[in-house]
Amino acid sequence: MKTYKLLLLGLFCSIVGKAQETNIKSSVENVETKVDSVLALMTLEEKVGQMVQYSGSWDLTGPATGDQNQYREDRLKQGLVGSMLNVLSPEATREAQKLVMENSRLGIPLMIGYDVIHGYKTIFPVPLGETASWDLDAMERSARIAAIESVADGVNWTFSPMIDISRDARWGRIMEGSGEDPFLTSKVAVAKIKGYQGDDLADPTTIAATAKHFVGYGLAEAGRDYNTVHIGENEMHNTLLPPFKAAADAGVATVMNAFNDLDGIPATGHRILQRDILKGDWDWDGFIVSDWGSIIEMVNHGFARDRKHAAEIAVKAGSDMDMEGGAYENALEELVEEGEVDEELINDAVRRILRVKFKMGLFEDPYRYSNPDFAATVDYDEHREVAREIASKSIVLLKNEKELLPIKPSVKNIAVIGPLADDKDTPIGNWRAQGEANSAVSLLEGIRNAVGQDVNVTYAKGADLGMGERSFLKPLKINETDTSGFADAIAKAKEADLVVLALGEDAFQTGEGRSQVDIGLAGVQDELLQEIYKVNKNVVLVLQNGRPLEISWAAENVPAIVEAWLLGTESGNAIADVLFGKYNPSGKLPVSFPRAVGQEPLYYNQKNTGRPSNPTDVTYSAYTDEEKTALYPFGYGLSYTTFEYGDINLSSKEMTQEGSIEVTVPVTNSGSKAGREVVQLYLRDMVASTTRPVIELKGFELVDLQPGETKEVTFTITNDLLEFYNAEKKWTSEPGEFRVMVGGNSRDLKMDSFELQ
Ligand code: NOJ
Repeated sequence: MKTYKLLLLGLFCSIVGKAQETNIKSSVENVETKVDSVLALMTLEEKVGQMVQYSGSWDLTGPATGDQNQYREDRLKQGLVGSMLNVLSPEATREAQKLVMENSRLGIPLMIGYDVIHGYKTIFPVPLGETASWDLDAMERSARIAAIESVADGVNWTFSPMIDISRDARWGRIMEGSGEDPFLTSKVAVAKIKGYQGDDLADPTTIAATAKHFVGYGLAEAGRDYNTVHIGENEMHNTLLPPFKAAADAGVATVMNAFNDLDGIPATGHRILQRDILKGDWDWDGFIVSDWGSIIEMVNHGFARDRKHAAEIAVKAGSDMDMEGGAYENALEELVEEGEVDEELINDAVRRILRVKFKMGLFEDPYRYSNPDFAATVDYDEHREVAREIASKSIVLLKNEKELLPIKPSVKNIAVIGPLADDKDTPIGNWRAQGEANSAVSLLEGIRNAVGQDVNVTYAKGADLGMGERSFLKPLKINETDTSGFADAIAKAKEADLVVLALGEDAFQTGEGRSQVDIGLAGVQDELLQEIYKVNKNVVLVLQNGRPLEISWAAENVPAIVEAWLLGTESGNAIADVLFGKYNPSGKLPVSFPRAVGQEPLYYNQKNTGRPSNPTDVTYSAYTDEEKTALYPFGYGLSYTTFEYGDINLSSKEMTQEGSIEVTVPVTNSGSKAGREVVQLYLRDMVASTTRPVIELKGFELVDLQPGETKEVTFTITNDLLEFYNAEKKWTSEPGEFRVMVGGNSRDLKMDSFELQ
């Protein structure tokens, strides 16, 4: 046993020695040599072991109790586990690593994964909310901070970013992604991956990232989680795959596949997507981890006869690591021995896993991410400051009539009302990693922190939203009947100059398994809103939620509406910064807000159809009982100032595929406050070999403007922005007319056009 470890160590030292001489320590060639050398030493059983991931919901540091624990500990000692998830703390991760390093024949270190979705301890806005900032630097920074805090707790791999395009507000996991647009989602994907992974995965303050869920999970039919996805090849390539291509090009270490089936094939068993496209066409060299049990779930899908068959399908399709499914561990070796699975497929998977481990520097020092002294160097106070800044930037001002906002110094009596007004837990959101329960600054606290002595702030809850136990797995009980707190709230609203009404969703109304058919304000909240509005018209509605809500009544009646998502640790302070004008809101919606749930799935980049409109009768693509447009469209958001767009100027009206066109537009701050505008570029390919969306985001710029100031914003259109997956199954552009649109949202736009020759 010892001989092999010595061999591995010897091999490693000689490689590192050589590398130091030639200064190519992390060069591709060097890693490949190491990977092959380790692979050559491995038995089939050890190779399969690398493809197994266990969850550590058992006490690693204490004595193992029960058969399962003992069994798993033995497997670790034998080097038959490649990775663990949900093992936390430098001590516990070190302990797990030690079981492997000190007992197994080869001592191949573990990767330690965890769902670090929007921060680790310091919690940032949920991804949908953070995307509303459109601030890629900010998103990279929050990922960087999440990485540092993860490493401080022994975690070296996150299952993030989720880059599923989601167009359906009923789907509870819409809060985990970047919304409905492939261009914006691709940019966010790259920023997040950069933040987590840095420039060098071996830097012990970076962690490996995961692009998930490959692919289609966000289009679950009827918004019901885990449901079937129906998608054609054209839409797959043009809408779902681009963010994953961007992630692969950015060097994401791992990809997680998905629970859903696509046109009859479960994603986990999808050879074309995983092996041919991701690993083949895109030449991506990381590894694919299954989603939790998604290999074995192919039996439920009716796609595999049993566990063994599921393992065979998954490995052939290119799934490299089995997360908590038990399929690979129990069946792969036998499948190879029986000749059903070619050992080369196993070698390919293991090569990929080892490659990532080498790049992470785990072979140099398996304990590098389990350093108990590292936590003391982490500046959590500074992280909170960044969290506040990013949370302010994520807020979207949806409506502001009567110039109710920012709140004027003349307002001396503020009533803060609502089930979420003093809720310190909901802003932490679902997928909260190690964000502590009840650790957020509530809206009430934020307002009290912001006002001086001369402002009287009263508070009434009005009603509960969720009742009873809150947990990741259990359904949430909504209060549908209890209005006993209304009287107090109404009395306080009557007395006040202004009411800040905090409504929305509980932390556990969105996230995995949290699909809903009703996306209005849950429980008695609508009633509370209308009762308060009856006695005081100066209502600022602050929404905290993880999905677009149906808020048509509020949109029509309430003068001011602030979309504050689930903003994380500094939520209340950030909202107060916006309410009192310390931060002039600049967020823009990354997802359409519907007028009615019946419009879902709703997205701005739709096709025109053969019957887009008809002024004379009903026979066109619309509803007879509601407008077909969004209530608040993609890209929309107000500011305390106003921005005016001049005419678009194109550097040429013609372009060749090798050439480019500059699009210039003057943007003026025509109001009286300094502000930030997200200037958005959209294109439309007017006629093509397949139908194309009527509008598609192709660029954006964040512009800071003083009152009266004008800046020329320039976008460069190059051929790559015009390309799409066409009727000949090629990623290419086609000659013809393109419409160019620029504006502050996807609805109010300046237009021009050019010809691609
Ligand atoms: C299932 C979820 O779908 C996935 O996103 C997550 O990373 C894993 N569970 C691990 O918790």
